[in-house]
Amino acid sequence: MKGIILAGGAGTRLRPLTKITSKQLLPVYDKPMVFYPLETLKAAGITDILFIIAPSNSGDFLNLLGSGNEFGCDFTYEIQDSPDGIAQAFLIGEKFIGNDEVTLILGDNLFEDDFSEAIDSFETGARVFAKKVSDAQRFGVVDFDDEFKAKHIEEKPKNPKSDYAVTGLYVYDNTVIEKAKSLAPSARGELEITDINNLYLEEGTLDVRLVNGRWLDCGTMESLYEATTMMREKVLAKK
Ligand code: DAU
Repeated sequence: MKGIILAGGAGTRLRPLTKITSKQLLPVYDKPMVFYPLETLKAAGITDILFIIAPSNSGDFLNLLGSGNEFGCDFTYEIQDSPDGIAQAFLIGEKFIGNDEVTLILGDNLFEDDFSEAIDSFETGARVFAKKVSDAQRFGVVDFDDEFKAKHIEEKPKNPKSDYAVTGLYVYDNTVIEKAKSLAPSARGELEITDINNLYLEEGTLDVRLVNGRWLDCGTMESLYEATTMMREKVLAKK
């Protein structure tokens, strides 16, 4: 299983903090944000990891993360020239993925859960991780049956069919590369991860796991503040 951490994008909602650095390098209490998705992958046993980063501040990622040696990992880097969509990760990462399966995590998503079992037990198709939220319109939203097979998945729907947001962690078999190649940009000009998930859904191979612990997407000032508070509580509780 290979891992990809998608840490590009412009971070416009966090200006001026992101004027001179990347969102994923901002501090979340005592660590740069990107350390958290990295820890999530490592905890699940994934150590062969590709970072996809924007051209600006790319040197800072290399300075911070290096070869991966220090983390017991093997790191590869690719540049995403412009933020043309999350699903572009599988085109940029095609060589890196090779013939393997791949887990993608968004560089601004913080999880408390350990996903080892969910990733170890993955065989084929796609697996997404859903969390009940009160503001589903902000996210990809998934509706699923009693057996956790997805029935419907939609990006930022006006009238969500469920309260379950699709979080920024995705596990795919190798057909994700061909699926990504078949996508056309959406109305907002992006290759949408939800369109990839819909292709798996049409095949009947999209399954859903629930996220039990807290989950934060640090894309806004409010969620960044909340994430900092959450991590501070955890660090202090350990002392
Ligand atoms: O956080 C979970 C949500 O992430 C999902 O529920 C949605 O289905 C999914 O589309 C995504 O929604 P966002 O509105 O949060 O996506 P955003 O454009 O903010 O991108 C998420 C992260 O991925 C962000 O840290 C920047 C990075 N990114 C995004 C794009 C579009 C890239 O590195 N490159 C890109 O081209």
